[in-house]
Amino acid sequence: MRAVDLIAKKRAGEVLTDEEINSLIQGYVANDVPDYQMAAFLMAVCFSGMNAQETAGLTIAMLQSGDVVDLSDIPGVKVDKHSTGGVGDTTTLAVGPMVAACGGKVAKMSGRGLGHTGGTLDKLESIPGLIIELPLEQFKQQVREISLAIVGQTGNLVPADKKLYALRDVTSTVNSLPLIASSIMSKKLASGADAIVLDVKTGSGAFAETLEQAKALASTMVDIGRRLGKKVVAIITDMNQPLGLAVGNALEVREAIELLSGKLSSGDPLYEVCMLLAGKMLLLSGQAGSETEARAKLVKSIESGAALAKFREMVAAQGGDFTYIDSVKINELCAVKRHIPVFLPYSGHVQRIDAQKVGLAAQLIGAGRSKKDDAIDPAVGLVMHKRLGEPVSPQEPVCTLYVNDDLNADAAIALLTQGIEIEHRAQRMVYAVLD
Ligand code: URA
Ligand code: CA
Repeated sequence: MRAVDLIAKKRAGEVLTDEEINSLIQGYVANDVPDYQMAAFLMAVCFSGMNAQETAGLTIAMLQSGDVVDLSDIPGVKVDKHSTGGVGDTTTLAVGPMVAACGGKVAKMSGRGLGHTGGTLDKLESIPGLIIELPLEQFKQQVREISLAIVGQTGNLVPADKKLYALRDVTSTVNSLPLIASSIMSKKLASGADAIVLDVKTGSGAFAETLEQAKALASTMVDIGRRLGKKVVAIITDMNQPLGLAVGNALEVREAIELLSGKLSSGDPLYEVCMLLAGKMLLLSGQAGSETEARAKLVKSIESGAALAKFREMVAAQGGDFTYIDSVKINELCAVKRHIPVFLPYSGHVQRIDAQKVGLAAQLIGAGRSKKDDAIDPAVGLVMHKRLGEPVSPQEPVCTLYVNDDLNADAAIALLTQGIEIEHRAQRMVYAVLD
């Protein structure tokens, strides 16, 4: 099978067989297919797409390029969750302990954050001592003993994705539904869970900007998982503003602790999305028979303190200083040199919050990486004070920056001022003059 013929076939809009896709992927991983041919193939996929069978075939080919974790010797249904990437999305840190406190077995392997803000692993690493690189046996033992572990990917999971993602990044071929769906699902399937809950974000800054795109991505990923015998559910959630108020690593740990301590209540977006995700995880785990029962159990896990205790237990098991998992002591990890309130010069209602710009602003002051090896400052970031639709005046800050190094603070403020719009009914008496 010559790569050039497969590129031509896809360019012509034809359907590739599983064998054809597999030969291309294994050839690429073995360095028999060069980058320039793979880049041409990826671009052909961007234009011609792939059907459901091809997308599943691509996922399986990627999955088979490396190790697949076997969790079958841990009793019970092992459940994982995945988010397609949001700003202010600290759901994993809250949902993991909630589900484990209600009897679910949460075995989560996270990738490093690809985008503007730190990923779950970076947030966890803001807790002194906590180790995310556990050997596989230790990861499994922890899930057996305390029903909860959140670690980095161990072993050689999906090397095809590492190589393909790097190439997609520099050839403008990231944004293709079958490529995104297979990239995400190959990694989820390789990490061994029996059940997966997907949180597909839609809105500014999400891969899926429209609801239609999000539905297509979600159903493609659900289809791939089910073809491979996994229980998969997807929910589509809003990313037209940061999900929580905190954007930053220790700041997001603090917000997760607030949620687990019962300080957020129903109606709050972060709380509601966590309830929905955790509820689906309990249903797939067989720990609840209905959404109502799941929610009641989850509410109780917060009210009783069991969920917060579970978070503490996980931090301790992974070598972290669990005394920080406390709504007062966590503030020590969020201590910075300077708090900078950000004001907008209008009175009115918040009309638009560009989540991506908010994420980039946090990245600029050190909360995320712009290059793979950049260091992250765990304490810095920002806290939003206003949500969409809320009233604001020039005397009230829309958010506060937490900074240690003033270097990029002005640039971050400029991004926020561009990204947050206030609808102010200025004295517009004349709209246009046509003469
Ligand atoms: N996240 C991934 O892991 N892969 C993609 O292609 C896009 C988002
Ligand atoms: Ca994230």
